[in-house]
Amino acid sequence: MPPSMDAPNETTTADRRRSPVVSIISPTYNEALNVGPLIDGLHAALVDVAHEVIIVDDDSPDGTWEIVEALAATDDRVRVIRRFGESGLSSAVLAGMEVATGSVLAVIDADGQHDEAALPEMVRRIEHGEADVVVGTRGAEGGSYGEFSLGRRIVSGVAALLAKLFLRVPVSDPMSGFFAISRDTYRRIGPTINPQGFKILLEFIGRRGDLRVDEVGYRFRNRVHGETKMSPSVIRSYLLAVAELRLGRQIKGQLFLYAVVGVCGFFVNLGVFGLFELLGTGAIDVGLAEPVRWSLLAGIQASIISNFVLNNYFVFWERRFRRRQLAQGLVVFELVSILGVFIHVAMFQFLQQQRLGESVVGAEAARLAHEAIGFAVAFVSNYYLNVNYTWRRRATVA
Ligand code: GDD
Ligand code: MN
Repeated sequence: MPPSMDAPNETTTADRRRSPVVSIISPTYNEALNVGPLIDGLHAALVDVAHEVIIVDDDSPDGTWEIVEALAATDDRVRVIRRFGESGLSSAVLAGMEVATGSVLAVIDADGQHDEAALPEMVRRIEHGEADVVVGTRGAEGGSYGEFSLGRRIVSGVAALLAKLFLRVPVSDPMSGFFAISRDTYRRIGPTINPQGFKILLEFIGRRGDLRVDEVGYRFRNRVHGETKMSPSVIRSYLLAVAELRLGRQIKGQLFLYAVVGVCGFFVNLGVFGLFELLGTGAIDVGLAEPVRWSLLAGIQASIISNFVLNNYFVFWERRFRRRQLAQGLVVFELVSILGVFIHVAMFQFLQQQRLGESVVGAEAARLAHEAIGFAVAFVSNYYLNVNYTWRRRATVA
């Protein structure tokens, strides 16, 4: 067989360019001042590695895409995807991966916060088959948060803890937007990904326990130009993703968040109750068989307020009460909550009177079960009322 025809073992520069070892994908939105330095930095860090850079821009008003187009005209390692009418970090990354040709796919922010110097080591570990996913981590050895604000640090910490607890994800920074995966991992997991929000890495590693995940530390840098697109809704969508990855899609994320808020309310109730008990605030006679302790009322009231705030800004964010509507919302929520307390108590007393199940499990266990049933009925009816009444879709007031 003539070697010139069938043996492609002699690679030309053109071939290497056509199939780079690593594709670097960077999502951009208004990064006009950052994108040039980013691309220079990537070329410098990857001098020894065949690579392509894919910028996925969502039609940035500051013309980020235009700048990259100009660069791409003279540098064929650079490509740009300009998306219209679309936004979202995760879906942008997926769009880049879809057209990437490298055997390793790496993702990096365009704002200079991630250190491209960590890339060669991340890529090497995947190329050598040491890992399927390598995460650039602020928490790992050699890494640091730099001047990351305390608030953001806490958010990252809690996010990592949740992912570890519920998804058994073995990384210290599951929110990291800096990571590399093998093409094979992309092929296997890409089709199952929920492309909403910022948590693309979590989608990859939270879904499959059989992935080998590794970490490389880097020092987080401050943004030089522009501003972050992170917001409370990003945190919320992260929590929903954890719930969804853990529980599958049978359970509605909204119900899950509502239940989480309920649990928080329980602890607020307990805390405030305990505090008032310590202060010894006594009781008030409201004509019931026994006087009602102030501590009990204070606990309930505190949890109603905290539940309202959390539900408003967290569970029902899209339909939240704003500024002047807040008082009105709180009143409605109060009434629904008080109704819930009545339903709980009434259900409990009814079951007690019926002595349901007492002869089977004994009085003590039956009492606990009656409590639980009363609580469950009140929880469901309150959820129903809050979804369909308190936070129903109202005509939006400007
Ligand atoms: N195409 C596109 N579309 N790009 C976007 C969008 C979007 O809707 N939103 C943000 N980006 C780009 C930004 O231009 C930037 O290059 C990158 O995504 C990260 O966005 P930032 O707004 O800088 O996010 P951050 O620095 O606050 O968040 C970083 O840390 C988080 C963990 O704390 C990112 O690395 C996140 O991925 C990470 O989850
Ligand atoms: Mn950033």
